[in-house]
Amino acid sequence: MTTRTIPTITLHNGMTIPQLGFGTLNIPPDRNPTPENSAKTAQFVAQALEYGYRHIDTAQMYGNERGVGQGVAASGIARAQLFVTSKLGNGNHRPDDVRRSFDETMQKLNLEYLDLFLIHWPLPTLYDGDYVSTWKAMTELLSDGRVRSVGVSNFQPDHLQRIIGETGITPVVNQIEVHPGFNNDAARAACASHGIAVEAWSPLGQGKVLGDAVIGEVAARTGKTPAQVILRWHIQHGHIVIPKSMHWERMQENLALFDFDLSPADVAAIDALDRGESGRIGPNPDTFDWIPSGAAPRPTVGS
Ligand SMILES: NC(=O)c1ccc[n+]([C@@H]2O[C@H](COP(=O)([O-])OP(=O)(O)OC[C@H]3O[C@@H](n4cnc5c(N)ncnc54)[C@H](OP(=O)(O)O)[C@@H]3O)[C@@H](O)[C@H]2O)c1
Repeated sequence: MTTRTIPTITLHNGMTIPQLGFGTLNIPPDRNPTPENSAKTAQFVAQALEYGYRHIDTAQMYGNERGVGQGVAASGIARAQLFVTSKLGNGNHRPDDVRRSFDETMQKLNLEYLDLFLIHWPLPTLYDGDYVSTWKAMTELLSDGRVRSVGVSNFQPDHLQRIIGETGITPVVNQIEVHPGFNNDAARAACASHGIAVEAWSPLGQGKVLGDAVIGEVAARTGKTPAQVILRWHIQHGHIVIPKSMHWERMQENLALFDFDLSPADVAAIDALDRGESGRIGPNPDTFDWIPSGAAPRPTVGS
């Protein structure tokens, strides 16, 4: 497996992103940034890079940015060959906190620049519903060169329309929940109409869709594993994917996606597993309002 086999997607600002990355949510599971946990995260990130991943997805709320940075440093791979994403924590939406927490992210990662910084959740029921000021502050970070691209995560079509309409600046990426059973068609269509790349989180449905009979049948017929079939389905739809695993063999399995194709009929059969909203595993972005304990909560004034 060489990195050359991982295709890149060109974003609307001309930057490129490897279509496959390594997700680090729950590595390790308790999100507590102790030195021991950072060492564990670093071990998995360094191993992922050793296997050939070149794109790492983390977030302020994962509590593991320090470990990700340590893993990147331990890998010895040139910075220019890597793509690192982090995301703004839900407690940090006010413009001053965007800037302050971005500085903290950079200190923890110990990197000179970040490739991509995303608003993690729109939180339309908090901060007086003002995710536009948050987006504006994100875009202002681009000016000093420490972040190459900015985007969003979990933005619904109306959220995208609003930030683009009010700032004139289009996110390069929207990282959203997509997996067999939840195609998230409306959000994907909105991304396509604005030229925004779709990055699929929980691309394996957190492992819950691996036992599906249709996927099992395709896997048996093609000689691939269910995880490979699902990830290949994403790749053929043009999604960026960031599967997470804490098993060495699965980390390698999830990289081996670029020597086979699913037929159009197989892609259509997996598309047909969509169950609309009932297939959603994670929170609904229209109502999600969780702020991690320990973060200074800055809810709607008066609420
Ligand atoms: N923006 C957001 O709001 C958001 C939300 C959720 C996730 N994310 C990002 O998306 C990444 C991926 O999502 P996720 O971690 O929720 O779920 P996921 O990648 O869909 O699934 C991970 C689960 O599948 C298992 N797994 C992985 N590869 C496997 C394989 N080849 N065979 C069998 N089981 C396998 C893992 O188990 P083991 O670890 O035990 O191998 C784990 O339980 C996260 O790590 C994070 O970076 C973003």
